[in-house]
Parts: sequence; C-alpha cells; structure tokens
Amino acid sequence: MSIEAKISSSDPPASTNRRDFLHITTGTAAIVGTAATLWPFIDSMRPSADISAVATIDVDLTSIEPGQRVTVKWRGRPVFIVHRTEALIAQARADDANPNLIDPAPDSTRVQRPEWLVVVGVCTHLGCIPLGQSDGDPRGPFGGWFCPCHGSIYDSAGRVRKGPAPRNLEVPPYVFQDDLRVRIG
Ligand code: FES
Repeated sequence: MSIEAKISSSDPPASTNRRDFLHITTGTAAIVGTAATLWPFIDSMRPSADISAVATIDVDLTSIEPGQRVTVKWRGRPVFIVHRTEALIAQARADDANPNLIDPAPDSTRVQRPEWLVVVGVCTHLGCIPLGQSDGDPRGPFGGWFCPCHGSIYDSAGRVRKGPAPRNLEVPPYVFQDDLRVRIG
C-alpha cells in the first residue's frame, strides 16, 4: 500500500472552543483507494459539516508511538485512537470496579487490544468534541478527555467519570487486520 503524507495548516484557534488535532486518516480501497493522509488540523468543537462520510477506513498504526493520540474521521465523526501506555492501561483497569462509574464497563469490554483504545470522539451529552487529543490539552484526572462545553470528564478507557454526559464514549465497530492495521466501520 502506498502512503502519501500531506501537511496542511489553518489559522490558530480564536478561542478555547477550537483546538488542534493530530489527524491520521487512511482511506478504504472502496472509497478513496490506498492513499493515507497525515496532517495536523484545527477543528471546531463540533464535527464540521464538510467532513465526508466514509463507511470504512483503514488506519495504519505503525507511526503511533506509545502515549500518542490521533484522530481519524469516520462517517463524519472524529474517532480517537490512543496507543495506551502500561500506565494508562493500569489506570483504566484499576477503576473497573469503581462503584462511582456513571456508565459501568470493565476496561476489557472497551478495547480489543489493551494497548489500543478506539472510541468515537463525540461527547455523549450534547455532541461536543472533548479535549485531550493534543499535547497540552486538559484531560481531567483520569487520563482521558475533558469536554469544555459542560465539564464532562472521560477516563483512559473512554468511560464517563463526571457528567452531565450520561454514557461512555462510543466504541465504533472495528477489526484488527494485523498487529498494526485496524479497519474501522
Ligand atoms: S457536550 Fe460535552 S459536556 Fe455537554
């Protein structure tokens, strides 16, 4: 598979309601062929209307280092991929039996492989895109994401830990094609 890297830039965010994403997308053979794209971008707190709907995307995980987070777009929504470190995995597992979980789910039900978390990056409250994908973003105390719209906090398994979000971040359908390639959708 050939891989094409592109770098593009946008104006810096004008407020805290805009932020950087590191964005990696690889296209499906059926829809956009074999090209893959890597670019940093600025996005609003909600998915932009011009995000194309893509039924299935293949993501090459090769360049995602432990601790790194990337965002891919799938069916018009951002999908967060986290290469979890041992510390993040341990943090998630340690809270499996926490009685205060708003939407209880063991970490093992949230991931197919412990080192890779794949979740839809849309807050389950009103649909904002939580912060946490970029270095320096606020992530809250649980190693996950912080939604600045109304203050919801998610942990390193994408579980909601502080509302008003009622549910964990959605886990999209995906399958590992091999150790370092995942197909979402
Ligand atoms: S949309 Fe995320 S907390 Fe309201």
